[in-house]
Amino acid sequence: MRINKYLATCGIASRRAADKLIEDGVVKINGRVCNAGDDVNVGEDSVSVNGRIVNLVKKYDYYIMNKPKGYVCTVKDDKGRKTVMDLLPQNIKRLFPVGRLDYDTEGLLILTNDGDLTFKLTHPKNEVPKTYLVKTEKPVSDEDLVKLRSGVYIDGVKTKKCNVRLIETNKTGSKLHITITEGRNRQVRKMFEAVNNSVDFLKRIKIGDLTVSGLDRGQVRQLSVYEVDYLLNL
Ligand code: URA
Repeated sequence: MRINKYLATCGIASRRAADKLIEDGVVKINGRVCNAGDDVNVGEDSVSVNGRIVNLVKKYDYYIMNKPKGYVCTVKDDKGRKTVMDLLPQNIKRLFPVGRLDYDTEGLLILTNDGDLTFKLTHPKNEVPKTYLVKTEKPVSDEDLVKLRSGVYIDGVKTKKCNVRLIETNKTGSKLHITITEGRNRQVRKMFEAVNNSVDFLKRIKIGDLTVSGLDRGQVRQLSVYEVDYLLNL
C-alpha cells in the first residue's frame, strides 16, 4: 500500500497531510526515511512517524464466506434453521451478513460490522454488480436471453438492463452467468420464472471483481485491507 494511503488508513492524517509529513522527512519505513512513492508491506514493514510506530487501526471486521445451501442469512432464525453465523469460528465477534442469499443459494457472502460497507454493497443507488452462476431447468432460448438482458417484469416492475452470458445449453437446461446491479428479493430466480423457466442451481460467484474462488463450501476467511478498500470504492 502506498505510504500516504497507509498513514491515512491508520488514521494519522489525510492523504494530503500525510504527503506533507513524508516531505518533512518524519516518516520512516523500517527505520529509513521514506519518499512519497514508497510502498508499505502491510503486516510486515514497520512504519513510524516522528519516532512513534503507527499501526493500522482495526475498527471493523470483514469476512468473506462461501455460503452453502441450507443456511439462512440471518443472525437468528425463528424457524430454528441453521444460519450463516453457525459457520463462523467461535472467536469472531458480532457480525452481520451483508444482504441476503436465499436458503437454497450458495456462494459469496460478506459478513461485517461496518455499516458503511453494508450500505455501499446493498443500496440500489450504488448499483454494485453481483454475478451469479445459474443452472436452469429448461434450455434458455436466444429470445429469452434478449428479454433477460433488456429487463423482465417482476411484480409489475421491470428489472434493469443486465449482462447475461450463456455458457452452455443442452436439452436438459442451460448454464449461464448473470450480472445484476439491483438486489431485489429472489431476483435471479424470479427473472427466470418471468421467461417461463426455473432455476435449479444458483451461486453468487462475484461482487464486483471479488470472487469466492479458493474457498470451499462453508469456508470463511478475513478480507484483506486491499479487498475492503476495493469494495468500499466500487
Ligand atoms: N437472486 C436470487 O434469486 N436469490 C439469491 O439468493 C440471490 C439473488
